[in-house]
Amino acid sequence: MKTADRVLELLYDRREGFFSLDELAAATGKRRGRVEKALRELAERGHGLEFEPSHGVRLVLPVKLDAVLIEHNLPTRRVGRHAIAFDEVDSTNDTAMDSARHDDADGLVVTAEFQRAGRGRQGRVWLSPPGKNLMFSVLLMDGESLQHEAVTIAAGLAVAEGIEKATDARCELKWPNDVLLDGRKVAGILVEIRSPAFAQGRRCMVIGVGINVNASPPPGEVDSPVTSLFEYIGHDFERLDVLREVLCRLDAHVGEIAAGSFPGLHDAWISRCGMLNCRIEVASGGHVYAGRVLDVSPLEGLVLAVDSGRIVHLPAECSTVLAMPH
Ligand code: BTN
Repeated sequence: MKTADRVLELLYDRREGFFSLDELAAATGKRRGRVEKALRELAERGHGLEFEPSHGVRLVLPVKLDAVLIEHNLPTRRVGRHAIAFDEVDSTNDTAMDSARHDDADGLVVTAEFQRAGRGRQGRVWLSPPGKNLMFSVLLMDGESLQHEAVTIAAGLAVAEGIEKATDARCELKWPNDVLLDGRKVAGILVEIRSPAFAQGRRCMVIGVGINVNASPPPGEVDSPVTSLFEYIGHDFERLDVLREVLCRLDAHVGEIAAGSFPGLHDAWISRCGMLNCRIEVASGGHVYAGRVLDVSPLEGLVLAVDSGRIVHLPAECSTVLAMPH
């Protein structure tokens, strides 16, 4: 491992604590001069470093997203085996999909500090100020064994659980996969599947996640009520902590889906869903359905008792909830 990467891990693990240069030299097994060079490299990579003559050096928090820190001791099997962190891309979903051309890309996590053309569901845009929030995508190769419907709701659940673990806040889920705090949207998910020519027939699934961590979207740019962890809880959060918790939960749920096990996913989802028994309107596949929500099925989508008495199953991919009671 490069000295700069190891120094970054050491500084991150100590969080607000300082490291003297001699300590860093001892911990990395390098000379002091090499440690000083590594610190210069980290500064060039955009990491904020604070030097105190009597204490040494520490990272300025919140930390810039860095592949080394995303992968660092991440206890997952599939999701997050590799990571790439960009300053700026069009859309992390596109970058992740394009990475499918490389060998061993399964489980790759792509993050960006800013997206020039972030996409939301149903053709909407996803806006987020630079450096404040989480925007990332996870690439899963050979998505045949992973049902789109199940992954869509699993992703929402993983985000809710990850936020809960990192913050102690309790999230609510709005089908198909909006994550809410006190009725306001804090995170959204866009799952896309393609079989690009370069993937040679392999089906590539990308799970794109946007979480408003330290800033809400610009005012007037979104039509539904939104919030951020900062706004809801009242202080900044370390984005990496939230990201790593979400990746762990996503890894667990992807494992369950691949193994064909859905009961845990269903029950955990439903326990956070405020829509059961509510009357709603949903646009799906060119029709509008009005009725009462009976269930959310990981394989069949929203189960709705429509006003004519029929029961319909609406897939997440082509459905939008139009109206919900307040
Ligand atoms: C929605 O609620 O409409 C879904 C929003 C998904 C946004 C994320 S941000 C990272 C990834 N890249 C994108 O272009 N979109 C998703």
